[in-house]
Amino acid sequence: MDKKVTIPDLYELRRNGEIISWLTGYDYPTAVLEEQAGIEMILVGDSASMVVYGNSSTLPITMDTLIEHCKAVRRGAPNVFLIGDMPFLSYQVSATDAVYNAGRFMKEAGCDAIKLEGGVRIAETVRAIVNAGIPVVGHIGLTPQSSSMLGGFKVQGKDAESAKLLIDDARALEKAGVFGILLECVPTKVSKMIKDSISCLVFGIGAGDAVDGQLLIIHDIIGLYQCFTPKFVKQYANVSGVILDALKNYRGDVKTRKFPEPKHAFTISEIELNKLLNRDF
Ligand code: KIV
Repeated sequence: MDKKVTIPDLYELRRNGEIISWLTGYDYPTAVLEEQAGIEMILVGDSASMVVYGNSSTLPITMDTLIEHCKAVRRGAPNVFLIGDMPFLSYQVSATDAVYNAGRFMKEAGCDAIKLEGGVRIAETVRAIVNAGIPVVGHIGLTPQSSSMLGGFKVQGKDAESAKLLIDDARALEKAGVFGILLECVPTKVSKMIKDSISCLVFGIGAGDAVDGQLLIIHDIIGLYQCFTPKFVKQYANVSGVILDALKNYRGDVKTRKFPEPKHAFTISEIELNKLLNRDF
């Protein structure tokens, strides 16, 4: 990727009938590979709380932590469209907080946009952030920050009434100025109805194929997070297996003194060694 991806580029991809590829990313080396692979968008998600820090939910992670991850990803992937994920309590308390925290992702970490969870109930906050010149992706459907209220990590919009509420949410977000909406765990036919009722970009994670772009969590697709793999994930590699083999082999080599070999060690010249032995310096 030799040119920075912009919002017009994303719309251009849709016009050309090309689906946008989007992955989460949290660190420098992975971001380098994601950009090399041509992934157009990276989300530094609050999912880092779970897949990087081992928490059981996304709630504990803070703005400061996510900002540092965004900086690392930006260094590794200077041209991808980088989105910072607003963590729990960074935007729910007041619109002023929300604009300030969204601005931090842009100003301190070089993000191109922010993402936040919620529809109708968060629309005024979205408008305030957009009015500050910050591009926003809305996130509806299964919104992990409110999973307790949703009764767990469940598919959303499975009955007519809740599906209609999702359409209302999408419309409210579009009216508030988002350039894109992410649908998480929504039946394919409901995703299609949402997409048909708005004109901004529609992304999906577990939302079927009727969307403009697909998002997955990098740890899930490479098999690096072993606690839980959602049904909508396709696993492309088993990096955990590769790492585990390497770790076992390393341990075995250390225990049996096969490591280090002479080629892994440093030398001192005979002259310097003799000087040292004779204290001749
Ligand atoms: O934090 C994240 O990775 C997300 C996705 C699960 C949508 O918000």
